[in-house]
Amino acid sequence: MLHKEERVLKVNVKETALEHIQDEIIAVGVFEKAKMLKGAAKKIDMLTGRIITEVYGFGDFPGKLYQTQMLYATEGVQTKRVLLVGLGEEKEFSLEKLRGVGATAARFVRDKGIKSFVVPVSFVQTRGISVREKIGALLEGILLGLYRFSEFKSSQKEAGEKRPDTVTILVSDADELRNVRSEVHRTEAIAHASILARDLVSRPGNSATPNFLAQAAKKIARQHGLSCKVLDKKATAQMGMGSYLGVARGSDEPARFIIMEYKPAVRRKVPTVVLIGKGITFDSGGISLKPPNNMEEMKTDMAGGAAVLGTMQAVAAIKLPVHVVGLVPATENLPSGHALKPGDIVRALSGKTIEIISTDAEGRLVLADALSYAPRYKPDAIIDLATLTGACIIALGNHASGIMGNNEKLIEKLRRAGDRTGERVWPLPLWEEYGKQIKSDIADIKNVGGREAGTITAGYFLKEFVGDTPWVHLDIAGTAWTKKDCPYIPKGATGVGVRLLVELLSNWSDVKRETKEVKRKT
Ligand code: BES
Ligand code: ZN
Ligand code: ZN
Repeated sequence: MLHKEERVLKVNVKETALEHIQDEIIAVGVFEKAKMLKGAAKKIDMLTGRIITEVYGFGDFPGKLYQTQMLYATEGVQTKRVLLVGLGEEKEFSLEKLRGVGATAARFVRDKGIKSFVVPVSFVQTRGISVREKIGALLEGILLGLYRFSEFKSSQKEAGEKRPDTVTILVSDADELRNVRSEVHRTEAIAHASILARDLVSRPGNSATPNFLAQAAKKIARQHGLSCKVLDKKATAQMGMGSYLGVARGSDEPARFIIMEYKPAVRRKVPTVVLIGKGITFDSGGISLKPPNNMEEMKTDMAGGAAVLGTMQAVAAIKLPVHVVGLVPATENLPSGHALKPGDIVRALSGKTIEIISTDAEGRLVLADALSYAPRYKPDAIIDLATLTGACIIALGNHASGIMGNNEKLIEKLRRAGDRTGERVWPLPLWEEYGKQIKSDIADIKNVGGREAGTITAGYFLKEFVGDTPWVHLDIAGTAWTKKDCPYIPKGATGVGVRLLVELLSNWSDVKRETKEVKRKT
């Protein structure tokens, strides 16, 4: 079973005065070291005869970032309780912090067993953040912060089913209402898509098989009006995907090459973007077997594929005016009597021969054939996402995905999208000199370039299968999974890539639209 919609928090939008709203609890933000209260905090302070000012004065609640304080007996407001959430110092404030603040409020409500809460648009008032950005960040934090993967927990209690049912976003006028409604719709679509990706990544390898991913893609396609085609071993063999099938050979689970396509219902010409996600549903390393420590984490080796499925769902749900194709070459990487061996040579779809040095460098092998498949869509850009190298975790840790490519503009666009969404990316070079490391004596190329610059030589390998199309590769090995709880990303699968790509694709179409509008006016 996939993402259960009934488990999802219901989001209402209401136009009611703050003093009249009746609910279990209302959350408001308070800045640290602020001379004056602002927004909803100020309003509640006035309505309650300065209760917040008083608490602030005691020093119990200085408004430190993610600090919480619940107030009772707040006469003057109709909600039963008031929750103060610390915003930290105003000059340090950001949308990323606001996501964390939203998550903090929602988790507080959950931990208290409270079933519904109110968040006013005036929760925080500060310069440089629009109403849309504010609601987007708060709600994203709330929805993603409440996430838990509980499908394999047998008892309800352990599964942590204690969770709020409803959040009400409170707006002050009709104009705001329209804006907030559409932002809520967009944010819900994106958050649900991130959650879908998280669910797929968390799911163990014996459940999330290549065929399971294909079924998930088909279900998304049915629900959101996309097309979906799944190629089996025979079809990919006929096409000549020898690199991808080389990896699949060691596994008894049938390989699935997933193709999803979203065509917007607009008449004008729209850009075409191909997204490719590594879909290794379990990476044992193959004959070049991985050491047993933490090998269970290799169920996450399809996080790139999960991000592509999630992004396809989101772009269809919010109807972006971009033609998007998603490719997920899915297979397990296991050792067996049929498995690829070090020293073997495979022929990729592009015709290039590849000498296998390590069967554990399998991600680049499956991506190579997907990259060669992409040009048939005549894309304006190709973006691949992959948990590709352990070296990327050494280079950037968990705080950024590595980004490489052949087009500076596209890299820059992704960097900006990364900064805006908090799914940050950081560039590494693909200079020609690195190419020498993957020259093979007996084939066209080899799949490992030694220990030095392991992330870059992997990226370079991919580049060899990309033509002139603008292309970027995102190495998400360090960002797809977190061992620690983060403000709005509970420990486990992060769903990385979905928010980043949706942001990129949203602005892509905006840029086009803006330039067109300007042209029309002049
Ligand atoms: N899936 C792994 C990379 C990985 C490692 C992802 C740790 C997430 C956490 C990939 O297939 C792999 O095994 N890469 C090798 C490449 C090496 C053999 C050149 C690696 O990084 O060790
Ligand atoms: Zn591997
Ligand atoms: Zn792998």
